[in-house]
Amino acid sequence: MLALFLCMFIQPRHLVPTIFGRPYTRLYCDCQHKLVRSFMKDGQRIVILNSKGGCGKTTLATNLAAYYAQAGRKTALMDYDPQGSATFWLSKRPKDRPAIQSIPAYKYSHSVTRSWFLRVEANTQRTIIDSPAGLEMSGFQQLLDKADAILIPVLPSDIDIHAASHCIADLLLVAKQHKRRQRIAVIANRVRKNLLVYQKLEKFLCSLGIPFVTTLRDTTLYVQATDQGLGIHELHSYRNKEDLEQWRTLINWLDQLECRSGADGSAAQ
Ligand SMILES: Nc1ncnc2c1ncn2[C@@H]1O[C@H](COP(=O)(O)OP(=O)(O)OP(=O)(O)O)[C@@H](O)[C@H]1O
Ligand SMILES: [Mg+2]
Repeated sequence: MLALFLCMFIQPRHLVPTIFGRPYTRLYCDCQHKLVRSFMKDGQRIVILNSKGGCGKTTLATNLAAYYAQAGRKTALMDYDPQGSATFWLSKRPKDRPAIQSIPAYKYSHSVTRSWFLRVEANTQRTIIDSPAGLEMSGFQQLLDKADAILIPVLPSDIDIHAASHCIADLLLVAKQHKRRQRIAVIANRVRKNLLVYQKLEKFLCSLGIPFVTTLRDTTLYVQATDQGLGIHELHSYRNKEDLEQWRTLINWLDQLECRSGADGSAAQ
């Protein structure tokens, strides 16, 4: 009789010890999670995505990776695109240039554990992640949750801007990144003269609090650099001055983001 009485009124949560009103087990898990994270911290993780093809994801990823490597940061380039373009670029990188760790994530097979295959070397400071066109946001959720920054390159055409708006909406709603949208930025790529065409997208982004962080001009220098396994910063050319300025704005934004997430400890939570 007593046992029946206890079963009726005592719920499992009453049996969980609490500290300051929070279950002890939950607190223990939180602490353990933070501890593991502090050991596993592998620098800033920057995901480049846009489900629209050909908008400059790989160009952005390879140039960012090359920039950080030549700036003395230990850098890894993770390639989720089955086309393997970023991995191919890295295979062409001259041996006398600062090394970048290649992680061809698209080649993952079940012969080894996924975490082992995707591991970055110790003390990696930047992990740049290139993603494929036609990306299913829900399949990429885990990676997006761990991202410190998400960059979306957009081309200046109505079709591309329309597709980018859908991609951003999916990112916020399907991939549930709306609370982390301060880590998302859009980059206007292959811009020729004016930004008028971007006005619609700018309005949309403004309503979401997502910045248009920089514009990259349309120049064959990107093609030249890519062909040699280099980034635009590594070209010895007087012609890339304007481009370096455009990149400075993006790098500053990423640096500020890193400072902020370092200060509030919120990165990748
Ligand atoms: N700012 C730029 N100026 C000139 N050419 C560019 C620029 N950005 C990208 N390109 C060129 O546009 C083409 C497509 O770029 P890229 O491969 O980076 O796009 P992507 O989004 O990765 O494509 P995919 O969706 O197929 O993976 C490439 O030939 C690249 O060299
Ligand atoms: Mg690509």
